[in-house]
Amino acid sequence: LIKDIYRNMEKYLDKEIEVSGWVRTVRASKKFGFIELNDGTFFKNLQIVFEEDLDNFKEISKLPVSTAIKVKGILVESPSNKQPCEVKATNITIEAESDSDYPLQKKRHTFEFLRTIAHLRPRSNTFSAVFRIRSLAAYAIHKFFQERGFVYVHTPIITSSDCEGAGEMFRVSTLDLGKLPLDKDRKIDFSKDFFGKEANLTVSGQLNVEAYALAFRKVYTFGPTFRAENSNTPRHASEFWMIEPEIAFADLKDNMELAEDMLKYVISYVLENAPEEMEFFNRFIDKGLLDRLNNVVESDFETITYTEAIDILKKAKKDFEYPVEWGNDLQTEHERYITEEVLKKPVFVTDYPKDIKAFYMRLNDDDKTVSAMDLLVPGVGEIIGGSQREERYDVLERRMDEMGLDKEEYWWYLELRKYGGVKHSGYGLGFERAIMYLTGMKNIRDVIPYPRTPKSVEF
Ligand code: 4AD
Ligand code: MG
Repeated sequence: LIKDIYRNMEKYLDKEIEVSGWVRTVRASKKFGFIELNDGTFFKNLQIVFEEDLDNFKEISKLPVSTAIKVKGILVESPSNKQPCEVKATNITIEAESDSDYPLQKKRHTFEFLRTIAHLRPRSNTFSAVFRIRSLAAYAIHKFFQERGFVYVHTPIITSSDCEGAGEMFRVSTLDLGKLPLDKDRKIDFSKDFFGKEANLTVSGQLNVEAYALAFRKVYTFGPTFRAENSNTPRHASEFWMIEPEIAFADLKDNMELAEDMLKYVISYVLENAPEEMEFFNRFIDKGLLDRLNNVVESDFETITYTEAIDILKKAKKDFEYPVEWGNDLQTEHERYITEEVLKKPVFVTDYPKDIKAFYMRLNDDDKTVSAMDLLVPGVGEIIGGSQREERYDVLERRMDEMGLDKEEYWWYLELRKYGGVKHSGYGLGFERAIMYLTGMKNIRDVIPYPRTPKSVEF
């Protein structure tokens, strides 16, 4: 395995080895040639040197890119400083020859083009690096929470409630769209549907996981979530993964501390365990990425209130597209201005107006704001959204009425407030946004293997 060869070179040097993999490039002259071989185990390729004494020298010299081969040879130190070692081939066999119209030839391709070949793009350097980081970051997140005694809860994908109350849900139904059954008010009669009532893909596991926090104290979910937001932006996807911890006996401050510790842990873990990939991003995708991430790990995040954020934006000598007004939600341009141009580090914005946040957030004493926090980071904007939860039965009921929610649908959620419903808090980290932040990639479509966005569900 190429990873092991690079990591434990001494073990293999001057010995005969056998490797198999896919040809990334071939260069050959009349007497010798070089193959860059990738076996899938490592971000880096292994250089294979072959000479005219191979009986199939001519054939190997013209191997189409992406052909799968098996190589026997001796691992030697490389005379060039481009790679530490290379294989002097004694035998090369072709396992699966590639057609010559393979679309991923050596030249640079745009990310837009690579999205049209999502089934092949993990073979390119950039996407090989992105999806290795994605896997490692997922592992780091589980490791972080498990080491701290959090219980991993699998919340349902199909649900009947709308956690965010924003109505941005994909319906799950077996009804024939051509002949929908109607009730007496000529509305769709969901009692005739598969689940006997309206069902949707979840927008968040939070409501379900809150119940588990009140049983296990510290819990988290990590799963796919779905949003039918019709926003075609570089940071919105219709299907994305979310990490949602929830902790009992915890207020907003505890919540922010957890978020900060988690993010620093994941950054450190990835820097330590994928140095080659991170170096690649730093060189080719986002110059300064490594310095920035190292600084983040070493310094404290900033905290400001929403009201302070509005003040900063009002004083900004900058024309924003969306108006800055107390009561309006912060738009990406506002978030990025604050975190990139003013504070230049991750910043928690707290205590948003209640009218622009979800019903479950704890109402502050001013009766105007809620105990919410969003974490904004340079390059991405909002990466985390969270809050202390409204644990007071009567206040929660009132908020649900004000927001026009059907309390009967949320009966079990309300009931949690009756039976030891202590203060509790949690947040959601958008996993793709975290990967954008870790890699410097600028489009969410390029950090999820098969992106789903409006008008796009290929592959
Ligand atoms: O701020 P949001 O909507 O919060 C919730 O869903 C809460 N129920 C979380 C909780 O408290 N347990 O979403 C959380 C995060 C956002 O900060 C963002 O990073 C990501 O999820 N997110 C999206 N990522 C990609 N595409 C979308 N359409 C996203 N919508 C939200
Ligand atoms: Mg949010």
